[in-house]
Amino acid sequence: MCGIVGITSNNDVTARILGSLKKLEYRGYDSAGIATLSDGNINEVKCEGRVESLEKNISRTNLQGTIGIGHVRWATHGKPSTLNAHPHSSEVVSVVHNGIIENSTILKKLLEKKGYRFKSQTDTEVIAHLVTDYLKKDNLKNTIVKVLKKLHGSFALGIIFKDQPDLIVGARRGSPLAVGYGPDENYLGSDSYALKAMTNKISYLNDGEFCIIKKDLVEFFDSNAKKINKKILNLSKNDQSIDKGDYKYFMSKEVDEQPITIKNCVNEYIDKFNKQINIYNFPWKIRDISSVVLIGCGTAYHACLIAKYWFEEHTSLDVTVDVASEFRYRKIKFKKDSLYIFVSQSGETADTYAALDICKKNKMKTCSIVNVVESSIARDSQLVLPIHCGPEIGVASTKAFLGQMLVLYLLCLKISFDKKIISKKKYSEKIKYLLSLSNLTKKTLKVDSKIQKLCKVFANAKGCMFLGRGYSFPIALEGALKLKELAYIHAEGYPAGEMKHGPLALIEEGMPVVVLAPRDDHYKKIVSNMQEVISRGAKVLLITNKSKNEIQSENIWETIEVENISEDLLPFLITIPLQKLAYYSALEKGYDIDKPRNLAKSVTVE
Ligand code: AGP
Ligand code: GLU
Repeated sequence: MCGIVGITSNNDVTARILGSLKKLEYRGYDSAGIATLSDGNINEVKCEGRVESLEKNISRTNLQGTIGIGHVRWATHGKPSTLNAHPHSSEVVSVVHNGIIENSTILKKLLEKKGYRFKSQTDTEVIAHLVTDYLKKDNLKNTIVKVLKKLHGSFALGIIFKDQPDLIVGARRGSPLAVGYGPDENYLGSDSYALKAMTNKISYLNDGEFCIIKKDLVEFFDSNAKKINKKILNLSKNDQSIDKGDYKYFMSKEVDEQPITIKNCVNEYIDKFNKQINIYNFPWKIRDISSVVLIGCGTAYHACLIAKYWFEEHTSLDVTVDVASEFRYRKIKFKKDSLYIFVSQSGETADTYAALDICKKNKMKTCSIVNVVESSIARDSQLVLPIHCGPEIGVASTKAFLGQMLVLYLLCLKISFDKKIISKKKYSEKIKYLLSLSNLTKKTLKVDSKIQKLCKVFANAKGCMFLGRGYSFPIALEGALKLKELAYIHAEGYPAGEMKHGPLALIEEGMPVVVLAPRDDHYKKIVSNMQEVISRGAKVLLITNKSKNEIQSENIWETIEVENISEDLLPFLITIPLQKLAYYSALEKGYDIDKPRNLAKSVTVE
């Protein structure tokens, strides 16, 4: 969460910091700020709200400088306000911070006793005063080492110093941080995406490291100030689709890109000529894997839940699914023959990263399924399976969800085939279906006009339910999550069979209930569950797949039919109407679709 950028140069940096902050805004958008050094003074401009407001404020000032740091915030300590916006400065330093300083209350008390006065409610401000305090008795490098040792919690930091006219310190523990190299200037950023307009030459800091960046020199150090060498990576210059084109919101563009996402991914993993799934560099013997543990957060967790059904159906493996924030604190019995799979669009989610780290420390087999291949999770996994869907900017995850499901499905089939569980005939059949998935996704996107009409009912509802069975149950959870995060409507996803065990009491006259009932093995059962909610007054939106057979039910409010494909791939298609439903309901309510309240794209704090 939050975005950091820093530039040290011979030229003015303000406009470029603003430009990078605009790109980083998906990481946090409740307040923003910039600090520069000019004429030996630290100058700050900060504001509550978006970078757009910051830009207006800056245009009214004369903020300039050849060195500066900028920040977009996602508040953890202290409300979003101008005062709490970063950078936080003392007389001598200015700091931007991503993360949480867990011992800030104790440190603040100690610093207050020494006479330091705090202006904000943030945990970050202690860093500015701590650095100031240590600098009174020590040199810069020792100060940084000592301050970092004092801080508990997670952080990525950018620090500038009043008496160092071209020097930025960057430090990382638990939150991502990248260094970029330019001609006679260098950069700091919370991801390479923020720096792409300026450079494609990047190095990443590992946990515990810090760096000193000058306009003509970058040095890296471990936590004891021992100098370390870093590789400079040349990232692809291909800055795919990071503008909205003719779309009003990134989300609608990303939903429409799903056929391409699927096509790209299928092309990457399926050898069409030999009709087989290729996963190169698989580092283990297939016989050494007898269970999988799937770990993720939010939408990525839902992708893991679906994969459990696939792995159970198509392989002989034991499957466990876990939310990363729970996994990391449980007493796990690690098993040598387990494959631990981490699913994350950003590859930077703090909980997922921590779960991976625990597995790494226990010498487990680790695989990550990510969109950002340069991310921390990808860098630290033994096997990386990219989802190839291009940047996803909308906070609500859409195309990445389909990409994650697809890669999990491919991995499952591959393991099944290599373990000789699936027959050759069935395997070829599955590949045939996979090759048709992109096209069917494209056709299913046409459900648009019907959903637009229905969304008024959802937008005005005080709550709704999403019901599913089998493969459709995790999709029900995902549908409810999308409606919650975009349209701020209380929504519950439930296994339809559980309704009688409590939630049925919530159903009242006119309550919208989305029933996911593709014509699979569960169809008859879920149609009965649907009748039960209709009998109690629910307005049922049925989502099923096309069929010659009529739907054996009465009084359904509306029906949406998706295209036909094999049962195990139907989750891909029934997801689409749910994405659209959330999108149009939020649009109806006039909300900012790409930046829902209280959220951020990359959750780099616990
Ligand atoms: C989805 O719409 C969410 N915004 C959120 O649940 C997201 O999927 C989750 O934070 C995990 O992110 P990751 O895939 O980048 O790890
Ligand atoms: N904990 C800090 C704050 O609340 C940093 C939050 C962030 O990562 O944006 O200001």
